[in-house]
Amino acid sequence: MNRRDFLALSATTAAMAGLPLPLAAAGDDWAKAFRAALAEKPWLLGWLGTNEARLETPALTVDGTIPSELSGTLYRNGPAQHEVGGRRYQHWFDGDGMVQAFRIGGGKVAHLGRLVETAKLATEDKADRPVEMTFGTYLPDMRRAANADALNTANISMLHHGGELLALWEGGSAYQIEPDTLDTIGPKTWNPLTKGLPFSAHPRVDSQGTLWSFGYASSAGAIVLYRIDPAGTLVEQGIVRMERVPMVHDFVVTERQVLLVLPPLYFDRERPGAFLDRHVWDPDAGTRILIFDKDDLTKHRTVEMPAFWMFHFGNAWEDSAGKIHLDLARYDDPSLMFETLRWVMRGEYRPATTARPYRMTVDPAAGKATSEAIAEDAEAEFPRIDPRLTGLRHRRLILLGSDGSAPHPLFNAVVRVDPETGERSFYSYGPNAIAEEHVFVPRPGGTGEDDGWVLGTVLNYKAGVTRLNVFDAAGLSDGPLATASLPYALPLGLHGTFVAG
Ligand SMILES: [Fe+2]
Repeated sequence: MNRRDFLALSATTAAMAGLPLPLAAAGDDWAKAFRAALAEKPWLLGWLGTNEARLETPALTVDGTIPSELSGTLYRNGPAQHEVGGRRYQHWFDGDGMVQAFRIGGGKVAHLGRLVETAKLATEDKADRPVEMTFGTYLPDMRRAANADALNTANISMLHHGGELLALWEGGSAYQIEPDTLDTIGPKTWNPLTKGLPFSAHPRVDSQGTLWSFGYASSAGAIVLYRIDPAGTLVEQGIVRMERVPMVHDFVVTERQVLLVLPPLYFDRERPGAFLDRHVWDPDAGTRILIFDKDDLTKHRTVEMPAFWMFHFGNAWEDSAGKIHLDLARYDDPSLMFETLRWVMRGEYRPATTARPYRMTVDPAAGKATSEAIAEDAEAEFPRIDPRLTGLRHRRLILLGSDGSAPHPLFNAVVRVDPETGERSFYSYGPNAIAEEHVFVPRPGGTGEDDGWVLGTVLNYKAGVTRLNVFDAAGLSDGPLATASLPYALPLGLHGTFVAG
């Protein structure tokens, strides 16, 4: 790739910078409103947040039996510090990131949670107030960030690759974390050309061990692609220039291809407000799919579809006829992000469009793509697969779902579905629970998608605690084999990864 292109990109990649106007009322009003609502709606506990820099429990209370072969750490990440100096952020995605480590071994579980010590956290600790304009909050005295990493909250996901543990955001650098102590080492620089460039929260490690990622640099008018070898060395970076850059949270790879699916939610530097509010939903523009060959990131084909919104894909694979099959949690539009996930921070429940599991089929040769519901009546998000099958054909998707009994906007159940037949197994945690992402963990030496466990955390807001659950993957509807309870509630998080060992 052209070195000059990358240097120019680095200089302008304050993706969330600009000259916006503040739209919102002072953050302390939101803190007051949230607390008043919490008394009425106990499920808001999930969004209360914490100002503790460290949470630790050496031995969780375990009900049931944790399989003796299950050994390793479930690392999770999510927005956790929602208030600074008593002033509250106005979007769930704004809170400073906290890494949670659940260490499992010998039938026992230990927990350690620590805030990621980002540059933003240090600035705001010192000032004792929110200083940097964030993804969804712009208070009158917030400043425009000097660069993307100045407002990096490192709060979306975790990646373990090439022996390094990374806390992922998507607007700037990944942050390197020490795996045992969870000390923050600092922003990860893959090479000098990509220093400080956006690195997504959903990189994919394919069956060859190659790590693929991307990043959208809205102000700079580009999307960056990364190819990183199994040892963690960046071997190739690509740039796709575009006039209007969409918000794009996830992507997929197959054995031979990289696909960027671009929903028509476009950055508009002329609009006022925080980064989120500077985006326009333009459904007439449709959703575009950019298809790259893995061995040549310099060019791509484009396939167009009617507009839809998504955060997450489960997986993608290519069949013998060259058609690509992608599973995703599909929304009609991004109103959930603009409405529900913002106003919940003020203690309000504003319903919006929900996600359903879909399979897309892309035919690059014909330039066509279609999509079909996997289960039309099922609400579902946070799709995960057996990580060994990334880019290959999978027959099991693990998702979060709902049984309709809970009063909150998220999920209270875990679902396992065959995306080709729609056959499902389902387990509900009941009306007092908010389930977080569940992951598949292969049994050591196990070969199939049924041979392992499903692990996931759940907030029981009635009991005021977070619990880790372990299921036999083949017997999900029988309920957990074991449940390990913390003595406290963790702030609701987003994504995680299991590291065996
Ligand atoms: Fe995500």
